[in-house]
Amino acid sequence: MTGRIEWARASCRLLDAIGDEIAATRPFAGLRIGTAIHLEPKTVALLVTLQRGGAELVSTGNLATTQPDAVRYLRDQGVTVIGEPTTDAAVQQGFIREVVATRPDLLLDNGGDLFRAALETPWPGLCGGTEETTSGRAALLPLRDRLRMPLLVINDSPIKQFAENRHAVGQSVLESYLRITNRSTNGKRVTVFGYGACGKGVAACFRNAHALVSVVERDPVLRLEALLDGFAVPDRETALRAADVVITVTGARGVISAADVPLLRDGAILANAGHVPVEIAVPHEPSPAGLCPVRTGDGRRVTLLAGGQMVNLAGPRPLGNSIESMDLGFALQVRCLEAIATGAVGPEQCVVPVPRAIDESVARAFVERSI
Ligand SMILES: NC(=O)c1ccc[n+]([C@@H]2O[C@H](COP(=O)([O-])OP(=O)(O)OC[C@H]3O[C@@H](n4cnc5c(N)ncnc54)[C@H](O)[C@@H]3O)[C@@H](O)[C@H]2O)c1
Repeated sequence: MTGRIEWARASCRLLDAIGDEIAATRPFAGLRIGTAIHLEPKTVALLVTLQRGGAELVSTGNLATTQPDAVRYLRDQGVTVIGEPTTDAAVQQGFIREVVATRPDLLLDNGGDLFRAALETPWPGLCGGTEETTSGRAALLPLRDRLRMPLLVINDSPIKQFAENRHAVGQSVLESYLRITNRSTNGKRVTVFGYGACGKGVAACFRNAHALVSVVERDPVLRLEALLDGFAVPDRETALRAADVVITVTGARGVISAADVPLLRDGAILANAGHVPVEIAVPHEPSPAGLCPVRTGDGRRVTLLAGGQMVNLAGPRPLGNSIESMDLGFALQVRCLEAIATGAVGPEQCVVPVPRAIDESVARAFVERSI
């Protein structure tokens, strides 16, 4: 596994170059950064880069996705890592509170938990931070008036939207389905719930893998877009009755519930790729192989992959999104935290997208390395 961490670090060429630069400029010297993001090889590359810029790091993971080797590696590098792998939301919330209790100067959040906890016990030194996800933006937007600090949402960068959410999530969800089930996609009826950036990529990747893909999207405009992109757009009940594979990627809760289980075909496979583990809220048994039997009560075999946790990050041997896509997103992370640490972004820029100049500099750096 350490092999995978070294591979990820060496493959993050943008982070490597930024690390060389900020090792000299040290924008984070004397600053503590509290982080709550999936602890896996690519985030190790991000955290070590921040450390090279002078930051003291206090880090925890996210629910169900913490990889023990990543934790060990970070601790060896001098990062204070709080917690351990857990699928218990209350336990994970305790880890979040422990990070916040160290009163960091900056926060790097993934889902909004750190900033919400910071509002419960505010401290004067907090000067802002970043939020990685769609779900976190949705949670923090209503709190803007109370936060009143620079808070840049990485998710809303066009680079994150197309590089990670569209291209990389699609590829890694397909890879995870193949790896966990060892089943084919050819001719399978796959229904994707949600046609945002992630859903577009998931639908496209399964279609490219010769599945018969339909899309269920509650926004009528995006449903039209899915239709014009050539996908079937049945109503949800028709889709659920027909599907061999159902994938949710919406960020919403209870998209599939116990009430839907009677609709599903014998043999149906369910997977969630959205941030919240309750997009598919159906009663099921645990399975170390990630093949969790759903309780149907009538002998039909329905399987929930990875217990409904993010399938590309929580199943057995999870790889997550491609290194290149995360290198781009994490380069945005470092540049945004640097802008906040150096006072280049003011408190009026609270829960707003990445500044255009940062998007442009990261895009230029990646293209220059690719041509
Ligand atoms: N698995 C990963 O690696 C990964 C990476 C990035 C983002 N995400 C997560 O994936 C989720 C989706 O991200 P996105 O950027 O595509 O978000 P988005 O907001 O652009 O798209 C979500 C779509 O789901 C639709 N939707 C919501 N509830 C629905 C329902 N009940 N039925 C049908 N459609 C519904 C919305 O109308 C919206 O169009 C988020 O939770 C995000 O945090 C996962």
